Amino acid sequence: MTTADPAGPGRGLVLPRYEQATDTHPPLSSPDYRSTALRAPARPLVPLPQGLTEVTGPLLGPGLVTADDADLTRGHRGEPLGERIIVTGRVLDSGGRPVPDALVEVWQANAAGRYAHAVDQHPAPLDPNFSGGGRCLTDSTGRYRFVTIKPGAYPWGNHRNAWRPAHIHFSLFGRAFTQRLVTQMYFPSDPLFPFDPIFNSIPDPKARERLIATFDMDTTEPDWALAYQWDIVLRGRTATYFETGDEQ
Ligand SMILES: [Fe+2]
Repeated sequence: MTTADPAGPGRGLVLPRYEQATDTHPPLSSPDYRSTALRAPARPLVPLPQGLTEVTGPLLGPGLVTADDADLTRGHRGEPLGERIIVTGRVLDSGGRPVPDALVEVWQANAAGRYAHAVDQHPAPLDPNFSGGGRCLTDSTGRYRFVTIKPGAYPWGNHRNAWRPAHIHFSLFGRAFTQRLVTQMYFPSDPLFPFDPIFNSIPDPKARERLIATFDMDTTEPDWALAYQWDIVLRGRTATYFETGDEQ
């Protein structure tokens, strides 16, 4: 399939294509993760062609995201309770190329395992100094960096005595909408890993391990914060398609 759009204003423009999802992703229906039964499509997905919109957006200027957005411990009257941590890593594509200017958004529970959200009625305390949302853009080397507090585990009602391992939710927009990834970062040596149907919905054990951050002594700040490192790989571009000039 050509990626040129013969009918549009970019007639003759050759666009990059982005690889399709790999088998490292969890199946859309995972019976042990009960709510997937309600939202997983019953029929095969219909792949949409990648057009100009999908492979050129989003374009996010640095003026929309401020440095304070990456520090989840600020913006309130006081400091949040919990273990202050720095979370950093690089965003790469599957060809190993850094992805600069990618919008990285995070959301998480507080140190007690409670989200600042009306739907979360877990009887753990809210923290008036922690909302749990942040964002940043990757720098020219593809690096992101957040300051936050380590989230707590929380119960979630999937089955009797179900608890989520501590995690931070991530959403990433790369160079293109077709690179968007929504995922979760976990912390090393969490005793809840063997019991979590979401973590274990990923079939490949090596893919599960790639969701676990590593403790990063080099990034810790003395008397202030511990640190974790976690790299993220988005879809890469496939080989550039070249028109031969004799195509219709
Ligand atoms: Fe969560």
